[in-house]
Amino acid sequence: MKAMNPLFPNGLILINVSFREGNSPDHHQNITYNQLLRNVCRCANALKLLGVKKGDRVAIYLPMIPELVYTMLACARIGAVHSIVFAGFSSESLCERIVDAQCNILVTADGVYRGDKLINLKKIASEALERCKESMASCVQKCVVVKHHAFRTNTDASNKLQTPWDESCDIWWDDLMDGVSDECEPEWMDSEDPLFILYTSGSTGKPKGVLHTVTGYMLYTSLTFKYVFDYHHDDVYWCTADIGWITGHSYITYGPLANGATSVLFEGVPVYPHVGRLWEIIEKYRVSKFYTAPTAIRLLMKYGREPLQRYDLSSLRVLGTVGEPINLEAWLWYYDVVGQQRCPVIDTFWQTETGGHVLTPLPAATPLKPGSATCPFFGVQPAILNEHGEELEGEAEGYLVFRKPWPGIMRGVYGNQERFESTYFRKFPGFYVTGDGCRRDQDGYYWITGRIDDMLNVSGHLLSTAEVEAALTEHPSVAEAAVVSRPHAVKGECLYCFVTLKDHKEFNRTLMEELKRKVREKIGPIATPDFIQNAPGLPKTRSGKIMRRVLRQIARNEKDLGDLSTLADPKVVEVLFSQRCEAAA
Ligand code: PRX
Repeated sequence: MKAMNPLFPNGLILINVSFREGNSPDHHQNITYNQLLRNVCRCANALKLLGVKKGDRVAIYLPMIPELVYTMLACARIGAVHSIVFAGFSSESLCERIVDAQCNILVTADGVYRGDKLINLKKIASEALERCKESMASCVQKCVVVKHHAFRTNTDASNKLQTPWDESCDIWWDDLMDGVSDECEPEWMDSEDPLFILYTSGSTGKPKGVLHTVTGYMLYTSLTFKYVFDYHHDDVYWCTADIGWITGHSYITYGPLANGATSVLFEGVPVYPHVGRLWEIIEKYRVSKFYTAPTAIRLLMKYGREPLQRYDLSSLRVLGTVGEPINLEAWLWYYDVVGQQRCPVIDTFWQTETGGHVLTPLPAATPLKPGSATCPFFGVQPAILNEHGEELEGEAEGYLVFRKPWPGIMRGVYGNQERFESTYFRKFPGFYVTGDGCRRDQDGYYWITGRIDDMLNVSGHLLSTAEVEAALTEHPSVAEAAVVSRPHAVKGECLYCFVTLKDHKEFNRTLMEELKRKVREKIGPIATPDFIQNAPGLPKTRSGKIMRRVLRQIARNEKDLGDLSTLADPKVVEVLFSQRCEAAA
């Protein structure tokens, strides 16, 4: 069937489709580009009916269902700015993002199953809106609620949700779309008009609204998609990320759709209803280009080869990875077992801020080295600097920076130009600072060594230590908290928290559970601490600064602590070492 690409309404003729695969394997659907266009237009007209205009911000808090793509493209079509909040974030995180972007519409769903876990999304969304009102920062006038497929037919599940409803604000998606035209002229935009805001953790603890604009972003995601995955018309492409993160924005929605790609939109999780689910989907749709994260590979490695051997993976041609450094063992397993040594492993380094891939091999063109994101993409100019901002030549290790912008680079921090400049450009004037450490080898290949700021990468998701510390210190028993990373076999890194209690407060299992709950409620389940240690004192310099390096070493059980002469009280370290957690909390 021939259809028009919703992004280029007068352009390309396409014949491809999206395969929608639900949380449950028996829920699947094909969506043609024509259906996509009509649904996007319907949604665009509906948003207009609600008063949304060019430049307005629309918050989206949805699971991985087609309505998520319809809504984001509907915003793009009418020039509204979408701000998608990952549907695993807490009501507090959602509220914070809604308020910061001053969104006047929220689009959410009644609920969702993630694996066999029922999540009452609307309840979280309603709590977030309540919070916004309490903080006198209410800006949302309407909350559009999608009735999720899982609750249309299953009344038992639907009853369990007990969807909270506010007649003055809430409206069902179906009622809103009823009778709305499926044709909508796209709004004319300036190339530098905003396309979306996506929040990413900031080292101060307050998330930053990364702002991307229309043309540069779409051009860059479209181009990187085409070359980095070596996309051809007969390919079936699948990225397992969630659209709530940048990987999903760039390489589920914009990049693939701008290329008219046939792709898979997967709502579920890798191990439900069985540990071979991803392999089953590859076989089912004959996926040829597959993109996932090291954390998923490490998780599935644990189950060995047997779950893969049950499926035909011969369609695979390129395997992508993203989100964190990939360790050698995971790389080899991906290459040998998943790709059967036929498929290049494309390790793509990039960030929410870069919009698209910046360091990456190109399939069959770049000789690979396991664990290296290899070389810059066309037009990208990396450099490595030392602490004094001096550029290092040849083999070197230091701060990874970029010398020149490329089309997909962020254009600002929403509503905060000062933060934009100070975070990315002030440390080394004339360069964009990634916040990552990096090594360049004798062949000019780049090897990311991890974050060098106060950020953690848990399962490929960035978290700021300050954000978690703020959640912990909200507990009435906690006087002070310091959070560091510790290596984790599946997640890459996990959170190791030191907490100093207020006088006479007791450190026990109940408190640990309360602290974990506090973090989950304030940020979301991804930030749940793995280790919580009682810290009668924290290692501080004489000027009162916490020495995180020492805490990191304690968390990792590294006995050689190096120079401790700046510590105010070295005894603190001995105490912490003697009480360190061996097992997860
Ligand atoms: O530390 C790097 C790591 O993820 C950070 C960016 O996180 P975020 O903005 O959430 O975007 C993640 C998806 C693009 C980077 O600063 N990172 C991302 N990709 C890689 C990586 N580290 C090593 N190798 C990668 N391929």
